[in-house]
Amino acid sequence: MVNPFDNIYHGKRVLVTGHTGFKGAWMSLWLHELGAKVSGYSLPPDSPQALYSLLPQDLFQESVLADVRDGSSLKDAITRTRPEIIFHLAAQPIVGLSYKQPLDTFTTNALGTAQLLECVREFKAECAVVVVTSDKCYRNDNSGIPFKENDPLGGSDVYSMSKAATELVVSSWHSSFFKNNAELGALATGRAGNVVGGGDYAEDRIVPDLVRSYVSKEALVLRRPHATRPWQHVLESLSGYLALGQRLLAAPNKDELLSFNFGPDPEAERSVKELVDQWVQEWPSEFSVRTDAQPAYAEAYKLGLDHSLATSRLGWRPVWDFATTVKNTAEWYRLRHEGGASTEMMIAFTRSQIASYAADAASQKIAWAN
Ligand SMILES: NC(=O)c1ccc[n+]([C@@H]2O[C@H](COP(=O)([O-])OP(=O)(O)OC[C@H]3O[C@@H](n4cnc5c(N)ncnc54)[C@H](O)[C@@H]3O)[C@@H](O)[C@H]2O)c1
Repeated sequence: MVNPFDNIYHGKRVLVTGHTGFKGAWMSLWLHELGAKVSGYSLPPDSPQALYSLLPQDLFQESVLADVRDGSSLKDAITRTRPEIIFHLAAQPIVGLSYKQPLDTFTTNALGTAQLLECVREFKAECAVVVVTSDKCYRNDNSGIPFKENDPLGGSDVYSMSKAATELVVSSWHSSFFKNNAELGALATGRAGNVVGGGDYAEDRIVPDLVRSYVSKEALVLRRPHATRPWQHVLESLSGYLALGQRLLAAPNKDELLSFNFGPDPEAERSVKELVDQWVQEWPSEFSVRTDAQPAYAEAYKLGLDHSLATSRLGWRPVWDFATTVKNTAEWYRLRHEGGASTEMMIAFTRSQIASYAADAASQKIAWAN
């Protein structure tokens, strides 16, 4: 019988920040499937269409809708929910928005993480924390060489810089307060690639933009058709964070701050245009694509992530290749928008995608799935 993550999450009190967001909603559902007692802390969802709005609310022990920078509210939530592990996903994650709201992006991402770690420190319980940053936390010279964990941090746009700053916050709190402190839990950071999957309706992201074009029949505008990204299904990044959490809970080494890349294999480092072409094969439609628009802001052109450290130390590997990732993503939206599926059907379908991802991981003999 398969026991994902060695059953470590069964009965565990887990706090997911950013649970109303794309990744956080999938994470909450998966943790619930694993038998965890899940609580969430985030701002309200951006869109009534988002996956979070489909989730049964009794899935959460507690769902707090508040700002991660609000220390007293966050401290209350941690004191009440007494998490044994926190997955910190709450962030302003859109590069374009970081040009419009730079301070909000910086304070949410970097200071919000510092605030969370301060609350955990005051809480004085052995609570492990996995902080989610990004492939964009590295200084990018657009060489296309996949980043390794010890490459220099950087980022010229504010979002990327804020994720590099988040890494520095965690590193500083680790060496100043958490390292060798028997009262506190272990810390780690996870850096994933460009994530796609059902239930994302954010502005200024390629898959939600594609779905909006399908529904409205308006032209899809590609600002950087030839920019390459490490595409992966949302479940790939989450299996990485969960495998990392499993390590922190099962074999905590407080001396060491673990940081891992959870990127796809190089075959999934594709251009935006290739993603769209693959999508249209899965869900043919009559809509036009415009590639003549000028980008409104600067963004990295090439981005790749080397996951060999996660493979050698955690036994983590990608499960779904590029084609399977796009197929499973398109199927989710097609069922919702063309098939007119009910909320219950969409949740059942989302659960079935989690189950088939775990089964594929088990058949590929990936450590966390066996
Ligand atoms: N989606 C991707 O491709 C991708 C890639 C790499 C890293 N990430 C990281 O993964 C995490 C989750 O991203 P996502 O794609 O689910 O984003 P999302 O926008 O769908 O969700 C963000 C979540 O953070 C919450 N949030 C934002 N500001 C907040 C604040 N001030 N206080 C409390 N909560 C706040 C939102 O309410 C939401 O729940 C982020 O840290 C993001 O930077 C995402």
